[in-house]
This record gives sequence, structure tokens and C-alpha cells, in this order.
Amino acid sequence: MSRSREVRLATVPVGLPQPADFEVVEVPVPTPGDGEALVRNRYFHVFAALRTLFGGGVEGAPFPPIHPGDTLFGAAVGEVVSAPAGSGLRPGELVSHWLGWREYAAVPAAQCQPLGDVLPDPVAHLTQGRTAYSALLQSGLKAGETVFVSGGAGAVGSLAGQVARLLGADRVIGSTGSPAKARRLVSELGYDAAVLRGGEPFHEQLAKAAPDGIDVMVDNVGGEQLRAALTVARPGARFVLVGALDGQLDPNGSGTSAPVELDIYQVILKHVTLRGLDNSVATDWVDRFGAWLRQGEITVPQVRVVGIEHAARALSETIGGRHLGTVIVEL
Ligand SMILES: NC(=O)c1ccc[n+]([C@@H]2O[C@H](COP(=O)([O-])OP(=O)(O)OC[C@H]3O[C@@H](n4cnc5c(N)ncnc54)[C@H](OP(=O)(O)O)[C@@H]3O)[C@@H](O)[C@H]2O)c1
Repeated sequence: MSRSREVRLATVPVGLPQPADFEVVEVPVPTPGDGEALVRNRYFHVFAALRTLFGGGVEGAPFPPIHPGDTLFGAAVGEVVSAPAGSGLRPGELVSHWLGWREYAAVPAAQCQPLGDVLPDPVAHLTQGRTAYSALLQSGLKAGETVFVSGGAGAVGSLAGQVARLLGADRVIGSTGSPAKARRLVSELGYDAAVLRGGEPFHEQLAKAAPDGIDVMVDNVGGEQLRAALTVARPGARFVLVGALDGQLDPNGSGTSAPVELDIYQVILKHVTLRGLDNSVATDWVDRFGAWLRQGEITVPQVRVVGIEHAARALSETIGGRHLGTVIVEL
């Protein structure tokens, strides 16, 4: 163990990122500094939102922009190789942290979260279920209600539909980008109906899928999907805004803004609430997720790509809508 590979941004992408915009670079295994643990990464998450960081990022967001020459980052699970005395970390134990996209990482020990055994599979820690669960808790979802999840096949959405059902939703509708994925939403992920972006007028499809309207929207997309959802919102509907894939993955923009024109009369007359996501409400997520997994009540849709040399392709495919669920690179 003397060398480590990592994925760097080679050039600012023109349009949506392509594999040629990245390079895999071999570097010495990092020497941990004061208070740092050396971690050998086993898995990391590939997520479309990186596109926003290549475009310069968004002021006030928790993650900095990624410039050419920078190593990418994101959620990872790895094995502790060495840890500072008194850190409580033990060599060999699995931790989650934020320095993915590299084989070895020197991570501040305080930022390493030991996984324990609450979840049966370490990869489950890389799923975005906490986000989905937070959104549904924030919405005040009640038994018997109808939920619409935009981006229903992504990392967040592939769990949001299932969690909505487990929390008592009566009807769950998801949007996705292809007929094949729409079928899987219904057959594998607990959705009652799926609607397609880029096909028939979106608001017409949604009105057919939700003939009695929707009570809750978990919005990963924004754009015309949010606009359409307002037209079918029932009085008192609650929308939780999680992401902005429409703006984030607009090939003609930089991914750093997500404008949408809404008919505010719909909001006022139907007393609709639109709130930004607050992830901090999901304090019991890991325990509930673990119990649902062990009881076989939830599945973790995922795509595993083996080898860091394929990570950039996996990112481009994720952005292109090729995959369903959480996309993981296994090292
Ligand atoms: N606020 C937070 O704490 C938080 C946490 C996690 C995620 N997020 C945000 O939530 C959103 C979803 O995250 P995620 O991890 O689930 O995403 P993801 O899995 O990386 O989503 C990728 C999917 O986006 C869809 N897509 C591609 N182009 C699109 C377009 N032009 N319009 C709409 N959808 C498009 C494709 O699915 P289909 O082909 O099936 O449409 C693609 O597979 C992102 O905006 C992310 O930044 C926020």
C-alpha cells in the first residue's frame, strides 16, 4: 500500500459532464495529519448534484465548488487503517465520511462516523433515505393521503415512495425519465403509478395518475413538475422542496440556478405550503431503516460499478438517467 488513485475534475464541462472531463490520478497514500484517520475507502456514492459544484456551486450551500485539478468528494464508506490516539476509532472498523472518489483518504477523526451494526449492509449508509424520510416527516403526512415524488427513481426518490407507503400513504405516484423505469417504479418500489418527464404534457399525466389530487409532494426536481403538481394539489397540500434536478441538470445552464414560474393563485386559494427540506428532523432514521430492512419491508435499489476507473462514466450515466436507485462505486 503506497499508491492511491483518485478522480479529479480535468476541465470545466461544457453542457452536462462527460467522462472526458475527469481524470484518474495516482498519488502517494496520504499521510494523516494531526487528528486525522487514514481510511481505505470501500464504497462511494455517485450523485448528480455534483454537476452544480462543477458549475461554480451555489452561495450558502454546504459544499464548495469543484475546480479543475480538484479531487471530487461525496459520501463514502471505508475501513480505518490508522487512527489518532483517543479518537475512539479502531483500525479495521467501518466508518462513513465525506471524502469519496479516492481509494485512500486522510479524514479528520471527528468527521468519521462509525457504522456499528444497526444497518445490515454498510452500503445502506450511502442511500438517501434519511432525506426522503425527513421530507415526509416535515410534510406531516397522514394515513390515507396521496403523495407525489418527483425524481421517483433517483437515490432519494427510490426510497421516498417506499417510505411514504410505510408511513401510511394510500396512493403514491412517482416521476421518472423512461417507460422501463416507470414500470420498475410500480413493480419494485411500491409506487401505484408513474408519470414520465419529457413525454405527454406532464400536468395531464399527473392529473390522470392522481384523479383526486395530491396531499403531499416530495420535490426533487422543481421546474414543470412542481408547476404541474400545484395544479393537482388538494386544499391544504404540503410540498417539501428537496432538490432542483430540473435546473441542476439543464444542459443549457450551469446547474447553479433553478428558476420556475408558479401560479401563485393556486398556492393562495388552496392554502398550499411550500417548505425547503430540513434534514435534521430525521433523528430516528437509522433505527427505523434498520428495522424495516431486517423485516424485509423496504428494498435498497442500487447500481454497483466496480473500480474507480469507471466512476466518471457512472456519473455521466447517472446524470443521463440511465440508472435506478443509489449509484455506488465499489473499490
Ligand atoms: N437538501 C438536501 O439535503 C438534499 C439531500 C440529498 C439530495 N438532495 C437533492 O435532491 C435531488 C435528488 O437527489 P438524488 O440523489 O435522488 O438524485 P440522483 O439519484 O443523482 O438523480 C439522478 C436522476 O435525475 C433524473 N434526471 C436527469 N435529468 C433530469 C432533468 N432534466 N429533470 C429531472 N430529472 C432529471 C434522472 O432520473 P429519471 O431518468 O428517472 O428522471 C437521473 O437518474 C437533487 O437535486 C439533490 O441535489 C438534496
